[in-house]
Amino acid sequence: MTKRTILIEPDPILRKKSEPLETINPETRTLMNDMLETMYDAPGIGLAAVQIGILKRIIVIDISKENEKKAPLFLVNPTISFKSNKTSVHEEGCLSLPGHFAEIERPAECHIDFIDYDGKQKNLKAEGLLATCIQHEIDHLNGVLFIDYLSKLKKDMIIKKLVKSKKELDKIIL
Ligand code: NI
Repeated sequence: MTKRTILIEPDPILRKKSEPLETINPETRTLMNDMLETMYDAPGIGLAAVQIGILKRIIVIDISKENEKKAPLFLVNPTISFKSNKTSVHEEGCLSLPGHFAEIERPAECHIDFIDYDGKQKNLKAEGLLATCIQHEIDHLNGVLFIDYLSKLKKDMIIKKLVKSKKELDKIIL
């Protein structure tokens, strides 16, 4: 497994729509393994392929706690078949928006259809943190970031800070 570089907003690739995968082959599995390693290393609980610059509809998620056994979930071509009217609010962060968090309201429950690591068609009923995480990651596949749900003022402020910290990073390259 190889750790890949995570793209940071503002990056035009993060705003592109990812393409569905036609087949799951060894190359796809290598990519999924790399995504998982990159996510664990970050550390984060979800990562979409677009965040490492690959415009394919692949997501990895692991919401297990630190003291629990790892429980990776690979979702290929995920589609939402049901969203509850009931909503819930979670404080969200994102590996592509380091250091920024915001409370985001989303449907509390969702059902998804997807292809798993072995290429099998599956479905999943998610609620709580998992439902939020899945919706956050599917947004990535459509070029959407959680800051898009904030007021323009808040969103612009976060982007401005990210641009500034990117410039600071550039300065210390020796
Ligand atoms: Ni994210």
